[in-house]
Amino acid sequence: MSLDEIRDLTASDMEAVNRLIQERLRSDVLLINQLGLYIINSGGKRLRPLLVLLAANACGYRGTHHINLAAIVEFIHTATLLHDDVVDASELRRGRDTANAIWGNEASVLVGDFLYSRAFEMMVEVGSMPIMEVMAHTTNTIAEGEVMQLLNCNDPDTTEGRYMEVIRSKTAKLFEAAARIGAMLGGQPPAVETALSHYGMHLGTAFQLVDDVLDYSADAEAIGKNIGDDLAEGKPTLPLIHVLRTGSEAEKAVVREAIEKGGRDLIEPVQAAIESTGAIAYTAQSARTAANQAMEALTQLPASPYRDALYALADFSVSRSY
Ligand code: IPE
Ligand code: IPE
Ligand code: MG
Ligand code: MG
Repeated sequence: MSLDEIRDLTASDMEAVNRLIQERLRSDVLLINQLGLYIINSGGKRLRPLLVLLAANACGYRGTHHINLAAIVEFIHTATLLHDDVVDASELRRGRDTANAIWGNEASVLVGDFLYSRAFEMMVEVGSMPIMEVMAHTTNTIAEGEVMQLLNCNDPDTTEGRYMEVIRSKTAKLFEAAARIGAMLGGQPPAVETALSHYGMHLGTAFQLVDDVLDYSADAEAIGKNIGDDLAEGKPTLPLIHVLRTGSEAEKAVVREAIEKGGRDLIEPVQAAIESTGAIAYTAQSARTAANQAMEALTQLPASPYRDALYALADFSVSRSY
């Protein structure tokens, strides 16, 4: 099943999600409309709302709250991207100039706050305290993940364990919440809710591991982001951690220096070290393991085309090139 075939399953739901997103983006403050529409309509993959829709359908949910929650999850994701591009000083996102590159850091941070708080307004309208609890905890964990990552920046002694904790918090947690909400809406027993939580967590972990691979191996056109942003920020991602564990003394020294100093000057020797130590294959293998764990969790769900799509989404998260 391709990503397009996965999307076809919930196409009418996703249209409703997109309509709701446009509607709830509106504000009397012109800049919020401009910047908000710019980022929201710039061609994101909409994976997290897709996850809410697939999980809710896989759990037999028949109401309409999954539409609201899918939009809410995309608003939260978009808010994190606006903030993340400021923190990472990124200039390209979704194949276009970042919002911070066009409107500046201040506007990006503040419109990110608008999206976060709008998401919480919309959650109150849904009116489920257990779901609100999950989302409140999730956004809080994302913030912790981004701060933990900030502390790891320029630190070449960051361990794989610390790195994994960061990606589980900053990325996997929202995937986990998206999948879990589907089970909660469907009124599933705790075992299914837990299974879908695990599915989302492992899927999100695989997704970020691949993102960290693509930062060294893709081309900017394919991923719509600049390559080498992680190195420029001195981020000790898994490909670099692998070099620091297995490289020659010279390779370790150059990666150490690159992490400590940040910037793009050492990108070539760092790429060479990544290549010669098999760091990309190592990281990709770690993503494959996580995706397999995600798939194992799905055995708790009854068979359905939606469950098949969730399997396929796990495959996509590893094989993706964008
Ligand atoms: C980007 O997520 C941020 C990460 C967690 C790597 P996506 O790759 O899902 O971003 P869009 O929404 O499709 O642009
Ligand atoms: C994205 O992390 C995680 C969040 C937005 C919370 P990255 O910084 O690795 O993602 P990209 O590469 O900018 O999309
Ligand atoms: Mg970033
Ligand atoms: Mg990245």
